[in-house]
This record gives sequence, C-alpha cells and structure tokens, in this order.
Amino acid sequence: MIEKLSFDNPIYVLAPLAGYTDLPFRSVVKKFGADLTVSEMISSNALAHGSTKTLHMLEKSPNEDPYSVQIAGADVDIVRRAVEILNEQSGIDIIDLNCGCPVPKVVGHGSGSSLLKDLPLMGEIIKTIKDTSNKSLTSVKIRLGFEKKNHIEIAKIVEASGADFLAVHGRTRAGKFKAEVDYDAIKEIKENISIPVIANGDIDSYEKAKWVLEHTGADGVMIGRGAVGAPWIFHQLRTGSSDISLALRRDIILEHYDKMIEFYGPRGVAMFRKHVHTYSKGYRGASVLRNEVNRIDDTQEFRGVIDTFFKNHEIVS
Ligand SMILES: Cc1cc2nc3c(=O)[nH]c(=O)nc-3n(C[C@H](O)[C@H](O)[C@H](O)COP(=O)(O)O)c2cc1C
Repeated sequence: MIEKLSFDNPIYVLAPLAGYTDLPFRSVVKKFGADLTVSEMISSNALAHGSTKTLHMLEKSPNEDPYSVQIAGADVDIVRRAVEILNEQSGIDIIDLNCGCPVPKVVGHGSGSSLLKDLPLMGEIIKTIKDTSNKSLTSVKIRLGFEKKNHIEIAKIVEASGADFLAVHGRTRAGKFKAEVDYDAIKEIKENISIPVIANGDIDSYEKAKWVLEHTGADGVMIGRGAVGAPWIFHQLRTGSSDISLALRRDIILEHYDKMIEFYGPRGVAMFRKHVHTYSKGYRGASVLRNEVNRIDDTQEFRGVIDTFFKNHEIVS
C-alpha cells in the first residue's frame, strides 16, 4: 500500500454519496478523522468529454490526503480516456470504479451495478484503469451481486484484475438500500481474497463499526448516510465518545456552509438547504427553521438565520 494509506489498523472511510460528499462536506468530515475520502461518482463519459462542471467536481480540499476519485463507466475506451484525463490532475491517489450504483440512469448505460452482470467486462475495465492510471492505487466498490448474490466470484475477479483494495456494500442491486445488510457475505469475501476489504452498509455508530470489524474481519469500514447531518461521526467512531457540544456542532455547520458558498458561489444557498434539514433533525423548532430557509436566497441572510438558530436551540429528540 502507500505510506498515507496503511491497512495495518482498520481504516475509516467516507462513502461516496452523489449530491452530498462534495468538497465542502468532505473537508469538514476529514477534520474528524476519516482516513480516506472519496469524490462523488464521476461519469467517465463526462470526464472524457472534458466537461468543466466535472473538472470542478474533481477538486479536493487540501486536507484530503489521501484522496480517491470514483468513476463510473462501461466502455473500455471511454474509461481509458477518462483515466488519461485524471492522470493530468495532481493530488489524486486512488481511482475507484463504481460497480454498485443501482440507479436506473446509471444501470441503463451498463455502468454501476450493471457491471456485476458482465464480469468479464468488469474485469477488463478494472485492468484498463490499473494499466492506464499513474495514481498509486486502484480500488473497486461493489455490491454482493445484481439480482442474486455471487459475491465471492465478483471479489475474485476484482482481485485478479489488479485492484489494490475493495469496498463492499453488503446488499445486492435488487436489495437497493432497504434489504438487510449481509455481513456474513462480507466476511466470506474477506476469507476468499487477499487484498484489503472495506465493509459498508448501515454502519452508523461506534458499537456497530466495532461489531462489523470483528464479525467480518474487514480491514476498514465505510460510512455513508451515517455521516450526513453528522460529519462528526468519525470522531465518535474513533473515540467511542458521542460527546459533541452544541457549540462545536454550530461551528461545524457554519464552516460547512461557508465552504459551500466559497465552492459553489450563491447557488450554494439552495444546495445547503438539504443539509439544514439533516443538521436540524431533533432540534426544537426545526420545522420553523426549515420553512424559513426555504424562502431565503441571500447568502448573508441565510448564514445569519442558521447561526442564530443553532446558537439558541437545543436538541430535544
Ligand atoms: C444519496 C446517495 C448517493 C450515493 N452515491 C453513491 C456514489 O456516488 N457512488 C457509490 O459508489 N455509492 C453511492 N451510494 C451508496 C453509498 O456509497 C453506500 O454504499 C450506501 O449508502 C450504504 O452505506 P451507508 O448505509 O453507510 O449509507 C449512494 C447512496 C446514497 C444514499
């Protein structure tokens, strides 16, 4: 492995979440001790066509070290071109291939979890990334299968195709985000391959992370939805303490907001509304705040409202 990403001890990884884990969110999460952050899924097609918006999505925060960029794709030549473009960008340590996304728009193009239905193509794409990339590592994120579980077969092909490590969301594509996560299957993958395995799915507390690591023998855990509205979860995962003061929460929420405006300009206001909804969960007066921010477009006014709210309100549930 590389110096900045050792698997000697279990690692804590922020999952890629399209629409959430952008640069502002990752930079805040990283402060609390995530070992690895991954970009939102980036279409290899958009990269290959040099879309300016896509290049903006690739940017990383200076504290993201190491930094992984996740790509999706199903066409070997386009993926190769996308990787060549990533090769021109500095500061990326890992290229990750998305083999898990269940969304019809992505699956319809043969990408994401669709690759689990065509394992020779999946292997060829992994090899193409590995052979073309000038980055330190290549990784893959999978589910347990498309309709049915064939996780061991998938994992063996991932390893044989040259991936350096693997993240596993313990559901099939058919299981979407609701089926029970099969941690036994993650354990079976770990027992059948030699590259590091990161366990993912419904891990949202210190106790759960500890149990998953022990049960599966995995080399790390990846947290997605558990970090939304709670970027400090990585501090809790590391220390076992859920002691985050209201004052620190407020500082983090404002820092996140400021970074959104810095990164996106005024349209960051609209994009931050969904974060206000998750951050205010459990606070007294949350619904009044949500209604209020829905009608504010001015960046300073918006900041003032969230500042005052999180200064003066308590968590009640
Ligand atoms: C809103 C949303 C966006 C997601 N975007 C991606 C993505 O871009 N790439 C990816 O590999 N997985 C994506 N996922 C899946 C997550 O990375 C993760 O595998 C899944 O949510 C299970 O982990 P969790 O229970 O910790 O959230 C997304 C999930 C959600 C809910």
